[in-house]
Amino acid sequence: MTSDREERPEEASGPLLYSRRARTSDRDSGAVPDMTRQPLTVAVVGATGVVGRTMIQILAEREFPVGELRLMASGRSAGRTVSIEGRSHDIVEATGDAFDGVDIALFSAGGDVSRELAPQAAARGATVIDNSSAWRMEPTIPLVVSQVNPGDLEGHPGIIANPNCSTMQLVPILMAIRDSVGLERVVVDTYQAVSGTGGDAIAEFEGQIRAHVSGQPKQATVYPHPIAFNALPQVDVFLDNGYTKEEWKVVSESRKILHLPELRVSCTAVRVPVFVSHSEAVHVETREPLSPERARQLFAAVDGVVIRDDPATSTYPLASEAAGSDDIFVGRVRHDPSIEDGRGIAFWVVSDNLRKGAATNAVQIAEELIRRGWVKAAAARGAQPYGVERPHGELVREPVGASAEGSA
Ligand SMILES: NC(=O)c1ccc[n+]([C@@H]2O[C@H](COP(=O)([O-])OP(=O)(O)OC[C@H]3O[C@@H](n4cnc5c(N)ncnc54)[C@H](OP(=O)(O)O)[C@@H]3O)[C@@H](O)[C@H]2O)c1
Repeated sequence: MTSDREERPEEASGPLLYSRRARTSDRDSGAVPDMTRQPLTVAVVGATGVVGRTMIQILAEREFPVGELRLMASGRSAGRTVSIEGRSHDIVEATGDAFDGVDIALFSAGGDVSRELAPQAAARGATVIDNSSAWRMEPTIPLVVSQVNPGDLEGHPGIIANPNCSTMQLVPILMAIRDSVGLERVVVDTYQAVSGTGGDAIAEFEGQIRAHVSGQPKQATVYPHPIAFNALPQVDVFLDNGYTKEEWKVVSESRKILHLPELRVSCTAVRVPVFVSHSEAVHVETREPLSPERARQLFAAVDGVVIRDDPATSTYPLASEAAGSDDIFVGRVRHDPSIEDGRGIAFWVVSDNLRKGAATNAVQIAEELIRRGWVKAAAARGAQPYGVERPHGELVREPVGASAEGSA
């Protein structure tokens, strides 16, 4: 649209779904030790999108040591500005050259952009933390949830993958079970918010609500059916095995993050008419017995996990209450009687898909890199490259191949 260029400069449109973070604990104050706080040049790629805008907000909230903030989007947005918390930021077009001098690049502009530009950014010395699915299952790229497997960051080749939002909120809870009574099998059904599909989906959902109120037909272009007043058992495209790509991400990403390549996992992913926060019904078969009381204690001990569980007062995690928080909320913890010997546990997990499910975890990864002195790629630090996971959870260090790292 040529009119975009003629109208510049203008403020990029798009909803900022909440203006400030609702802190639910002091644990995640985001403090990075002073001695490591040299200002860094940070790029946000996809800065006009719902995740990118949340990233900018979280960098500010957590007082991330940003010297220069370089905001990038497509050529359509170059010359516009993004306004966050009263400050206006210019947008530049994302190109390889735009990453010169960048220390950390937070990507959330889709898989195609990540596949093309992440290696170019890494080749220029930037460390990319990528929100798309482009690099997640690449064996030489670490896939990291900050409180689960931060050690996997050590050998990063200049690209680090941020997991899918549904996987993100699930694996810290599974980690607690893995480390105490052992994991045998996981069945998870997701109830995913519309913001998980980005700004266009939010606009379509709002349009369908307005159409319903005024008695007009509901237009659906982002999803195959109207999402307003509906539940769609399709998130992303279908694979040959009958699962959707989203469902299979939960299966494969959970295995990689937990270092359990043979973990039995099944998922049904459902899109629901909620703006922010994904909810999940989870059923787990454990190796040893696990009581609901013990499970609540184990879950509550995980950094960033909060228990909301009192049936007497109808207290349980709600999407509306999780929105705006960086925590993962767990409730409805109970025995699953379909599994013998007290080895079945069922629960409900809710988290803000834009924050912990995307932007917050990316910034937490960046904080871990600073804290551990791993901002630069492993090769530049003389560290062993990240390896290939093998059965039984072993992490086998292997030479870097010629895929992503060829450019890094
Ligand atoms: N939404 C979530 O909950 C969530 C969670 C985890 C991961 N993610 C991932 O994060 C990414 C972005 O999601 P979103 O929800 O923020 O989508 P969105 O609201 O649609 O925003 C997309 C962003 O990508 C930019 N972009 C598109 N084409 C580009 C190009 N050729 N070069 C540079 N920038 C380009 C857009 O810039 P323009 O404005 O210039 O078009 C916009 O800033 C996706 O990979 C998604 O899978 C999203």
